[in-house]
Amino acid sequence: MARGQEVELCENEIIISKTDPKGRITYANRRFMQIAGYAEPELLGKPHNLIRHSDMPRGVFRFLWQTLQEKKEFFGYVKNLTSDGGFYWVLANITPDYRVDSSLAGYFSVRRRPNYQAIKQVSEWYKEMLKIEAAETPSRAPEASLLWLKDQVKQQGCSYNDLVTRLEGLEE
Ligand SMILES: Cc1cc2nc3c(=O)[nH]c(=O)nc-3n(C[C@H](O)[C@H](O)[C@H](O)COP(=O)(O)O)c2cc1C
Repeated sequence: MARGQEVELCENEIIISKTDPKGRITYANRRFMQIAGYAEPELLGKPHNLIRHSDMPRGVFRFLWQTLQEKKEFFGYVKNLTSDGGFYWVLANITPDYRVDSSLAGYFSVRRRPNYQAIKQVSEWYKEMLKIEAAETPSRAPEASLLWLKDQVKQQGCSYNDLVTRLEGLEE
């Protein structure tokens, strides 16, 4: 595939990965390996930022980790990099995975085809977040862009998760 080319997920396709508490990959399903372009040994034990795309604002990942640390589940749109320089958008759900004794085993992520109409809106927001981050010092950048995103969500008059539901057209 040519550099910079988009791969669109099909309906009903599910991309799954699991990580340890530090975000190192411990499991990837076959579709994950196919779309990301890595064989299992290249993924296992690697940090999940292996597939991080440079168009993704750091503020989104700040929100992801804050949400997980609050023992909540994260929903969000993520643009990921393939091993040959292509990319794919997903609607990701990431949850903490607890053992019966309540200790943290790691994290679990299930991703599926996003509403590509929603991606148009979301990628505009992410571009704006990148601009905000570029104007800040590295340590303040994620918080600054996340504040801006939360403000956008507030203007829509709902929670972040409600907004994702709305963008996905899942509203009743
Ligand atoms: C279960 C799980 C799945 C993740 N999936 C992705 C992913 O698909 N793409 C991505 O860029 N980061 C993903 N992350 C977040 C990365 O761990 C990392 O925080 C992010 O890529 C930003 O990189 P950085 O923390 O080095 O700045 C995931 C984290 C967890 C715990």
